[in-house]
Amino acid sequence: MSGIEINSVLIENRLFKPSAEFTARARIKPDDLAALHKRAEEDYEGFWADLARELIDWQKPFTQTLDESNAPHFKWFSDGEMNVSYNCIDRHLAKHADKTAIIFEGEGGDVRKLTYQQLHDEVCEFANALKAHGIREGDRVVIYMPMVPEAVIAMQACARIGAVQSVVFGGFSAESLRDRIEDAQAVMLITADGGTRGGKIVPLKEAADKALSSGCDCIKNVIVLKRTGHDIAMQEGRDIWWSDAIAGQSNECEPVWVNAEHPLFLLYTSGSTGKPKGIQHASAGYLLNAITTNLWVFDLRDEDIFWCTADVGWITGHTYVAYGPLAAASTIVMYEGAPVIPDGGRFWKMVEEHKVTIFYTAPTAIRALMRLGDDFPNSYDLSSLRLLGTVGEPINPEAWMWYHTVIGKENCPIVDTWWQTETGAHVISPVPGVTATKPGSCTLPLPGMMADVVNEEGESITEANTGGYLVIKKPWPSMLRTVWGDDQRYADTYYPKFGGKYYLAGDSARRDENGYFWIMGRIDDVLNVSGHRLGTMEVESALVAHDAVVEAAVVGRPHEVKGEAIVAFVICKGERPTGEAAEKMAKELRDWVGEQIGPIAKPDDIRFAEGLPKTRSGKIMRRLLRTIAAGEEITSDTSTLENEAVIAQLQGKA
Ligand code: PRX
Repeated sequence: MSGIEINSVLIENRLFKPSAEFTARARIKPDDLAALHKRAEEDYEGFWADLARELIDWQKPFTQTLDESNAPHFKWFSDGEMNVSYNCIDRHLAKHADKTAIIFEGEGGDVRKLTYQQLHDEVCEFANALKAHGIREGDRVVIYMPMVPEAVIAMQACARIGAVQSVVFGGFSAESLRDRIEDAQAVMLITADGGTRGGKIVPLKEAADKALSSGCDCIKNVIVLKRTGHDIAMQEGRDIWWSDAIAGQSNECEPVWVNAEHPLFLLYTSGSTGKPKGIQHASAGYLLNAITTNLWVFDLRDEDIFWCTADVGWITGHTYVAYGPLAAASTIVMYEGAPVIPDGGRFWKMVEEHKVTIFYTAPTAIRALMRLGDDFPNSYDLSSLRLLGTVGEPINPEAWMWYHTVIGKENCPIVDTWWQTETGAHVISPVPGVTATKPGSCTLPLPGMMADVVNEEGESITEANTGGYLVIKKPWPSMLRTVWGDDQRYADTYYPKFGGKYYLAGDSARRDENGYFWIMGRIDDVLNVSGHRLGTMEVESALVAHDAVVEAAVVGRPHEVKGEAIVAFVICKGERPTGEAAEKMAKELRDWVGEQIGPIAKPDDIRFAEGLPKTRSGKIMRRLLRTIAAGEEITSDTSTLENEAVIAQLQGKA
């Protein structure tokens, strides 16, 4: 076997069909979905042009749909003019001025609701404040905020005046903030005195001060929201309280009509090198897929209460909190704090209290909450829920089943949505009233999203369960436009193969006999053991399928004879096994994986810990695990880890 093809042996066959009742009420029924696919196949540009005309309000209509003249820098609707904030707010006012746009709950239990009219007024006041401080179309503004309504207000205000925003997740350190500010050459920073998470204050202003004192000469002003009320330093002439900035500002602010291709935001994400990439999205194309996916995948209807638990510091918090659902005139829930404060029932209590109908979260959160037992969810009325979603990594079938039975009461379709910061919106996902789901599969590409699995030569892999490169064969409206300030890196990273024709997602995937996509991991997470290629996530899925295991991460370690040896880091239910118990459990798990996948996949080394090293966004830090597995010295920064103590356990030193 050569190249990318990957042995895939873990097959999941359970099929869950949407109920007739769900389908009957769904926006997209089987015939609708078939018609959308047919139209996209037959007239790709016409398909997107129709949707763009139907779903976006244009100030100046576009005449050109897709411009490929400067590939791989594609443009969409590029002679049209519009404004994202107008589309998210103003156009709803005639019908929905008094409809709740945002239900916010702080970690301490404070609840605040904003109607569309109130959101409009606050966004306009803040947009006027930005203008009063010299912010103009194209200026970069960095937002470093807790998960409070003002974060969305700031994002919408920037969009309203054509400023290019870059949200930096509040869990990032001063150094990361500084690097991002400098890369974006931002002129304004919007932050808060602090946020609250896990019962503690997150000292945002302090971190901002540290960032600004070590560079960031480009920043002229800092606007500071008072959230925690603790003491902070304010620098005369540079720092302004939010309340002072908006004082006396009008609650009307004419939107700046921008070109469809105007940069809406930059969002930094890590690539294969250490330097984060500023993923740049455009305005109209991004908004279009934010809307289509909210309608198709989340089936958003007027009466829905939609809670996506992602922070606005991540792409999910952009497309499924700050923009998409608002553009669809929906009601969103925002929560500031941790899911386990005061206890593991917090999410479920909020579902009950706010009558959440659609709930979207990450597998890592599902697993963490599953681990706390069924009593928490069972203590609350979850009957308002009608649809569940997951994103960010493949969900292991055990967690899927728990989500399905304990949270969804076997009554809610689960949409497992595959996409990336770069894709801007869902690419592969079930359409809930149509697609029968299989635990662990993101199922099928959405209409107009030409995802495929190809081999080293760029040819479609038609054989079932043979892995390959996940690619997208045609540009789509919400794709990234470039890496900020580095067109070459954009081309090298996303269009390096296949004659520069296909977008390379960086994931490996396979399709099963029904054509369903299964994400097997990042391309660099593919193991080669004795000439056999294995997806690390397959070994992980096998491990977590064992009763005793809650979570597992698998990496390769160079091995003289086999090429690579498999090292598994495992979190068990209950107490962490040590000594003899650990040896016994390791043997049992090795045999188990051998049974699940085959002897080739048996981990050579199994280490037990109380947790896995993760980024604040919940992603397992695989590079760090590879370093540990190889027994090398850790040189990367581990200070952002949630639980630094686990490192010694994973190294076998504790
Ligand atoms: O590897 C895939 C994984 O997350 C990557 C994108 O990460 P990020 O840009 O941080 O965006 C996360 C939120 C969209 C992908 O390349 N990934 C995302 N969703 C899934 C997934 N892997 C499997 N199944 C998913 N549903």
